Amino acid sequence: MNDDAFLPVALRLDDAEILIVGGGGIAANKTRLVMSRGATIHVIARALGPEMRRWHEEGRFRLAGESVGAALLDALLPRMRAVFAATDDEAVNRLVADRARAHNVLVCAVDDPEPSSFITPAIIDRRPVQIAIMTGGAAPVLARRLRLQIEALLPEGLGRLARFMRGRRPWIRERLPEVTARRRAWEMFVDGPGAEAALAGRDDAAQAALERAVSGHSRVGEAWLVGAGPGDPDMLTLAALRLMQNCDSVLYDQLIPEAILERVRRDAVRVFVGKQKSRHSLPQAEINAELIRRAQAGERVLRLKGGDPFIFGRGGEEMEALLAAGVRVRVIPGITAASGCGALAGIPLTHRDCAQICVFLTGHARADGTLALDWPTLARRGQTLVIYMGLTPLAELCARLTEHGLPPDWPAAVIERGTRPDQRVHAGTLATLAALARERAVSSPALIIIGEVVRHRGAVG
Ligand SMILES: C[S@@+](CC[C@H](N)C(=O)[O-])C[C@H]1O[C@@H](n2cnc3c(N)ncnc32)[C@H](O)[C@@H]1O
Repeated sequence: MNDDAFLPVALRLDDAEILIVGGGGIAANKTRLVMSRGATIHVIARALGPEMRRWHEEGRFRLAGESVGAALLDALLPRMRAVFAATDDEAVNRLVADRARAHNVLVCAVDDPEPSSFITPAIIDRRPVQIAIMTGGAAPVLARRLRLQIEALLPEGLGRLARFMRGRRPWIRERLPEVTARRRAWEMFVDGPGAEAALAGRDDAAQAALERAVSGHSRVGEAWLVGAGPGDPDMLTLAALRLMQNCDSVLYDQLIPEAILERVRRDAVRVFVGKQKSRHSLPQAEINAELIRRAQAGERVLRLKGGDPFIFGRGGEEMEALLAAGVRVRVIPGITAASGCGALAGIPLTHRDCAQICVFLTGHARADGTLALDWPTLARRGQTLVIYMGLTPLAELCARLTEHGLPPDWPAAVIERGTRPDQRVHAGTLATLAALARERAVSSPALIIIGEVVRHRGAVG
């Protein structure tokens, strides 16, 4: 069995019979879990702890027997929807699990995933909102810690809000029969003061806000130019994440790894506009046209861009085209490759001792293949050069900087796939870097940092 084998699903219990084997604290925990879901509970236990005894006296479960004999189990199991083997004796739990599996009944041997056909997650309970956290049985302590952290973020009245929304579903369906329009009205409500009112139990104010959201709604699309950072999903901003989860469609390119795309709303339409082996990227004009077309059709279209949209990302052009077409645009900055790669490689971009200026430049060649750069300005001491798209022309870059006055032993580094799990940092000098990159078969995306800051590189991790 591997840790990935468990799929979180929710089990209906209000019409079910459940067997709990055990009468101590472990069994009490499981009994408490199922008791409030309306299940009929049977318990097999030699002795009952204080809590179990009280529940038994209150008639919350039926004591079916004292020991787990095969005859008793075979009589009970066929009726059960699920069984908890919750004694403190692993051998007994495994015996129960074996019998249950033989009868094809779901079984959870507590703290023992191996013989179990289901396990119970850590649960955050704001019913009807419930959040389950699972580690596949690998690290229950971690799951409990996560539960505490998430608990702290969730308003106490979450259940109240969900109940309010549930109650208004028929009403809103009647007024807005179209799914997208309805979803937007709900989103407007959830993001606005109405949700706050429902959380606080002020249903009249919540209803008024919902009516505003329903009537104020119109199918006006928007375009969101969002920086996704250099590749590590932890470097997404909260604003980026929120918009990623609210968009109708997303246009993305090869700088966006799957780990980030996974955080986009699952039913958003994905449109790849980047380079593939067989073809070049979609021309910029076509990307602009696609963004405009989707926004004008009423979509909230997300243009997800590597790093920051306004740094060598053509976000400026997209914004201009969209605004010219009368589309509402929002721009969300992202961590640009320079800061992401510098930080994760332990290379500061400025340093009081050696770099008072930091220049971001692109090594993207002109149509004739030449680099049109102001070499005398770039080949200065006291500054850091951060070069985007500089891998192909690396040899020329290093040669021209040396020609214009920087020493051949001037520090320089290439950061390959910065911030990603397979990041590599290659440090050398203007004289050695191009050969080093060739030798090590460095590939894109790669960022070049040139300057004495490279000497200050720290072993971060
Ligand atoms: C078209 S530019 C986009 C830059 C982006 N808008 C930003 O702010 O980072 C693409 C270049 O950014 C650099 N780059 C982006 N992500 C990178 C990463 N994770 N590691 C190294 N370089 C990266 C590379 O130089 C790549 O060729």
